[in-house]
Amino acid sequence: MNVLVTGGAGYIGSHTCVELLQSNHNVVVVDNLCNSKREALSRVEKITGRRLAFVQADIRDRNALDAVFSRHPTDAVLHFAGLKAVGESVAQPSRYFENNVLGTKNLIEAMGDHHVKKLVFSSSALVYGSEYAPPLTEDLLPNPGNPYAENKAEIESMLQDLSGADAEWRIRILRYFNPVGAHPSGLIGEDPQGKPNNIMPNITQAAVGRLSFVEVFGNDYPTHDGTGIRDYIHITDLAKGHLSALQRLSKGANVLICNLGTGRGFSVLELISTFEKAASRRIPYQFGPRRPGDVPVLFASCTRAEKALVWRAEKSLFDMCKDSWHWQNMNPGGY
Ligand code: NAD
Ligand code: UD1
Repeated sequence: MNVLVTGGAGYIGSHTCVELLQSNHNVVVVDNLCNSKREALSRVEKITGRRLAFVQADIRDRNALDAVFSRHPTDAVLHFAGLKAVGESVAQPSRYFENNVLGTKNLIEAMGDHHVKKLVFSSSALVYGSEYAPPLTEDLLPNPGNPYAENKAEIESMLQDLSGADAEWRIRILRYFNPVGAHPSGLIGEDPQGKPNNIMPNITQAAVGRLSFVEVFGNDYPTHDGTGIRDYIHITDLAKGHLSALQRLSKGANVLICNLGTGRGFSVLELISTFEKAASRRIPYQFGPRRPGDVPVLFASCTRAEKALVWRAEKSLFDMCKDSWHWQNMNPGGY
């Protein structure tokens, strides 16, 4: 298949490009590099021994998208491009709406005009909000608690409306839980700009001495060790979930929402102690207050993805830690 990957230079996009190229798909990446580096794509080519096409462009730029679709025959789009920092979305809601929601609107309009009607979209477990008890199933009504999650919920309903209006569209909406890890080669991985928000890059940066310690947000949650529990999923398992979605896009419902997680939760302290074993080093940490908006426990129901995508996450928490460490150790300053 000829696949257009928006946001393909980013963390999840670059790992998915590896899987696409290794499965003999042709890849065109559209990315404005606002949160990524061109080098990630050179590394993708190095891992796979294959070339991809790269267009530096913004998904809000309709002329640029028209030029891409005119020049590159496209069968399907994997849409990763977006801004993803929850705190930033609270501070800059209109920037997030403009980039994420209007950017996606622009993309699907361009796709429709060029008769490209197959789409896999990156959504988030954050659309569930904090009210539901896990395991979270896809039929729960979205209850987003911040502008970033609202963007994802708005895009999901825009895509469902689009499918209702035009039955030619085939759409998969994938709600990711907590992607961590890196490609086992250590050549690509997560490279956040500035102080990381998420837990794993905080741990890896503490491991290489870029941070003096990890602040653990809260030790008074109603969990077995008092720290928050999340459903961590290895990035290559997540990437493979996209390939399964792509392969089965023509089967089943026109539009389908699927969780991508492991169905199992681990606490922050379990994550740190597993990382210590995988990296054979101590991770300094200190307890701090709860982070506003965090929920105690979040993990997925994976039944739908197993049935509809014939996909299941395979890698363990130890694999996730080992590969995150390998990437950071080989690239202490990132790309
Ligand atoms: P990332 O920031 O590493 O990658 C996103 C890419 O999109 C970047 O390369 C960035 O330069 C590009 N981009 C952003 N706005 C753009 C625009 N207007 N035009 C063109 N390119 C643009 O993030 P990621 O972790 O790889 O996330 C990919 C997608 O998955 C995002 O939509 C994110 O919201 C979603 N998601 C991520 C997580 C996570 O924990 N990483 C969880 C759930 C959902
Ligand atoms: C994250 C992302 C969200 C994404 C979602 C997917 C943020 C703020 N949230 O949420 O965009 O869609 O995954 O499910 O980027 N923790 C610490 N110390 C830290 C960082 C985190 O103790 O320095 C704890 C948190 O309290 C939480 C766990 O680690 O219990 C995971 O946090 P994080 O990696 O930020 O993921 P989520 O909050 O689940």
